[in-house]
Amino acid sequence: MEIIDLPSDNADLIETTARLLMTGFQTFAPHAWPTLEDALEEVRESLEDDRISRIMVSEVKDPTTTNQSRRTVLGWIGGMPHYNGHSWELHPLVVSPSHQRRGIGRRLVADLETQVRQRGGCTIYLGSDDETGLTSIANIDLYPNPLQHLMEIQNLGGHPYGFYQKVGFAIVGVIPDANGPGKPDIFLAKRISH
Ligand SMILES: CC(C)(COP(=O)(O)OP(=O)(O)OC[C@H]1O[C@@H](n2cnc3c(N)ncnc32)[C@H](O)[C@@H]1OP(=O)(O)O)[C@@H](O)C(=O)NCCC(=O)NCCS
Repeated sequence: MEIIDLPSDNADLIETTARLLMTGFQTFAPHAWPTLEDALEEVRESLEDDRISRIMVSEVKDPTTTNQSRRTVLGWIGGMPHYNGHSWELHPLVVSPSHQRRGIGRRLVADLETQVRQRGGCTIYLGSDDETGLTSIANIDLYPNPLQHLMEIQNLGGHPYGFYQKVGFAIVGVIPDANGPGKPDIFLAKRISH
């Protein structure tokens, strides 16, 4: 397994990455990329010049041929610069459902940190939606004091904010009702250099 730049001239890996995006978010955010074309557009956007798009690839035996292998995509992470390149938004991150909880997400985040550091960034941040009631701050009215609710947040069903905390991110904010009433977006950030 290795992490490489997603090659802009490899239609096969681009499509495999788009399919991974669709399957990986099926339970967490089922409406995010409803069609393959939507997912392909997201992947193509990640190949723009100023962005970072990295995939974890692995050699697998090709069942259609003998003694030949092909590369498959086990995970994908992207980054885009904001605030004049001081801070980068992590978007998206997905690991193949059959390979989750084996350290691939952690390795992809560490790789993004290296990439962003090399470009002079000092912070990585992201928004992580809760559209399906996986946390205690979904399906309730967060006003008038959203930060109070955020301080008492509980992970009710494997929301990925728990993963981000494990790899060093802190919860830094919330947009109440970001995806409709009771569907907030949780913001996390990590300092990657001093
Ligand atoms: C979130 C995701 C990227 C994590 O990738 P992963 O490869 O399974 O994560 P890792 O195996 O590297 O886990 C690193 C640590 O986080 C923990 N972890 C992983 N997912 C977690 C979750 N949902 N909640 C709490 N902890 C979690 C692991 O147990 C591990 O802990 P440890 O170091 O104490 O053993 C993956 O589950 C995924 O693709 N989910 C669907 C898409 C998604 O939610 N993307 C993020 C949207 S913002």
